[in-house]
Amino acid sequence: MTTKNDLIKEAWERLEKSIIYYRGQPVGTIAANDSEVAAVNYDQCFIRDFVPSALAFLMKGQPEIVRNFLKVTLTLQSHDPQMDAFKPGPGLMPASFKIELKDDREDLSADFGEHAIGRVPPVDSCLWWIILLRAYTKATGDIALARQSEFQEGTRLILQMCLAHRFAMYPTILVPDGAFTIDRRMGVYEHPLEIQVLFYAALRAAKELLLSDDDNCTCLDAIEQRLAPLTYHLREYYWIDLKRLNEIYRYRGDEFGKEVANRFNIYAESIPNWLSDWLPKNGGYLAGNLGPGRMDFRFFTLGNLMAIITAVACDRESQQIMNLIEQRWNDLIGDMPMKICFPALEGLEWQIVTGADPKNRPWSYHNGGNWPFLLWFLVAAAQKTNRLELAKKAIAIAQSYLDEDEWPEYYDGKKGRLLGKQARKYQTWTIAGFLVANELISHPHYLDLLSYEME
Ligand code: GLC
Repeated sequence: MTTKNDLIKEAWERLEKSIIYYRGQPVGTIAANDSEVAAVNYDQCFIRDFVPSALAFLMKGQPEIVRNFLKVTLTLQSHDPQMDAFKPGPGLMPASFKIELKDDREDLSADFGEHAIGRVPPVDSCLWWIILLRAYTKATGDIALARQSEFQEGTRLILQMCLAHRFAMYPTILVPDGAFTIDRRMGVYEHPLEIQVLFYAALRAAKELLLSDDDNCTCLDAIEQRLAPLTYHLREYYWIDLKRLNEIYRYRGDEFGKEVANRFNIYAESIPNWLSDWLPKNGGYLAGNLGPGRMDFRFFTLGNLMAIITAVACDRESQQIMNLIEQRWNDLIGDMPMKICFPALEGLEWQIVTGADPKNRPWSYHNGGNWPFLLWFLVAAAQKTNRLELAKKAIAIAQSYLDEDEWPEYYDGKKGRLLGKQARKYQTWTIAGFLVANELISHPHYLDLLSYEME
């Protein structure tokens, strides 16, 4: 029988095998190492996928690869303000990069979404980059890196892009569909929770990392001005529990003017039938999205768990989110931690919202599939809320299947019992996520790399 230690050893070996080198230096990890399926772009290093790899390396005392990654991706950041609508705007970080040989010399080649299916923009990459820079700084105590002028400038560029005043008069950022982990059309355009929580975490990280000098003062002021309304907006208006649901149920529609209760004009008829019975009395969560006449009542896991870890959710809300996970364990965890979102879009709704995407058919892939990389987020959130029993239970489930199933990318089915139809095997963030989850249990102080106290 494989013991947990054997599994951890195997996971480390696999993670090390996924490292990519640039001019002799380790700079990232490929997305998957599946020899049976065409790589397409899974042989590239995705910024978001590298996060658990980076955390695992930082926890193991191997920060060099993270440092190199941060440097290399900074050189790839888009800089020039240009009028060409087909080019990435200044500040944007790529979704992924790979190493190419040009005239016998290794070169970096980045994808800002120009090659991606559906041409989706990776808005989360630049936010993760700042969050990771803080984690690296905390783990190593090396503040000099973040203080280098190129790093200060890179951070500023990201913030200038994200804080720019555009059309929407909300403190959240407006993005197109598929701009983050869910990188296909799934009705996650506008103000999806995951982006808003990462935005919050990046703002707080930048506040710590930016020097207070003349170059940064405008940026630091803008961060300060944005943080409080953003936190209020998310805690107050995205929050759903039974009390709030009752308020929405009895909302009046079409209220005009400044001081109205139903400020986003959410109609009670848009509350899905499953919700009132599904919400436990002591549970709650942050909605998937909020905009004019629209509250997305689906539960999105990464956004909710990161909200706990980074203190977007207040202590009471964080406990309620964990209560929900505990009481709806079969739906949200089932046979593999954990569902990327719940519930799935089905029937006509699936056809219209996803554009009848066969990869995202109900209870598959992004549309209600179970993704083992989410394990580390769950463990970190459980630790933050002192609910370790949930973390241990989830790790035990993951441990019993991942190795035998060859570390797949995702699972299908309501309970996550089927190996994902098009899932890659030996998916790096599945492997790294398992390692990080275990490291967090053995060394709880590693939670500091990502967490914040409430402001
Ligand atoms: C899929 C996922 C995306 C991930 C990529 C590489 O496109 O939706 O989140 O970064 O695969 O693993």
